[in-house]
Amino acid sequence: MLAQHDAILFGAIGDPSVPDKVTVHELLLPMRRRYDQYVNLRPAYLFAGVPCPLVGKAPGAIDMLVYRENTEGEYAPVGGNLYPATDSEVAIQTSVFTRRGCERILRAAFDAARKRPRKTLTSVTKSNALVYGMGLWDQAYEAVRKDYPDVKSNSLLVDACAMDFVRRPEAFDVVVASNLFGDILTDLSAAVTGSIGLASSANINPTKQFPSMFEPVHGSAPDIAGKGIANPLAAVLSAALMLDHLGLTAGAAAVRAAVAEVLGGGKVKTPDLGGTATTSQMGDAVVAAIG
Ligand code: IPM
Ligand code: MG
Repeated sequence: MLAQHDAILFGAIGDPSVPDKVTVHELLLPMRRRYDQYVNLRPAYLFAGVPCPLVGKAPGAIDMLVYRENTEGEYAPVGGNLYPATDSEVAIQTSVFTRRGCERILRAAFDAARKRPRKTLTSVTKSNALVYGMGLWDQAYEAVRKDYPDVKSNSLLVDACAMDFVRRPEAFDVVVASNLFGDILTDLSAAVTGSIGLASSANINPTKQFPSMFEPVHGSAPDIAGKGIANPLAAVLSAALMLDHLGLTAGAAAVRAAVAEVLGGGKVKTPDLGGTATTSQMGDAVVAAIG
């Protein structure tokens, strides 16, 4: 059914009563892989009016795009268990890094960096410890960067990168990372820009052979489910990324401007932003701002 469509707008799914085997391994990750959505784009922007947990950061000072590899790496469903539930149990979980897989996400990130004012890219690695997979990642990075002499690029170990996301997040422009590193770093980039309730993402198949999927970075937040207090803006900003992908750039800009206006106004805030507004009130405020 999904394959017939240009895009998928995906709400947060999951429930404590449904095992990850179903929601993650039979739905979410297969969509990303089967539709070859190899670019997982996750912007992190510090909006005016949003309290930042780091002191002294001006609105807009944190403005990065994280490009996360989305089809292979540490998430490859390769491995197994031997002698399960015995003292001899063995678990094998294999990462899969391919030259093609590394090169294409790096290229997508460099293309994005080239279009941004700062033209700066950071490649996240851990080849000092993970010599084979991350070694190939680094080789791909060295090869691809030669095609982008106009982009200032550097390679950074993931642990140092995590530290610098907190210590000096304003230094980052475009960040490109493997599947797992990108997963972890984008919870951190969401936190330093105020709330995971604002973090949007796009799972993109750049060839448009298959649909791309747009989803908030957060999950279904079962602890607040049904209370009507979830921040809808991560989903709204994901819809803006979808409009961009569909070529409806004026619409995307209008949605983003409306979100910025509501946040900047500081009147309507869901509890994650320190306010008391409900999900609907926040949504209504954005609709009114667009109008
Ligand atoms: C995300 C989520 C997923 C991921 C989980 C639900 C498997 O954390 O989209 O960041 O790790 O990709
Ligand atoms: Mg995650």
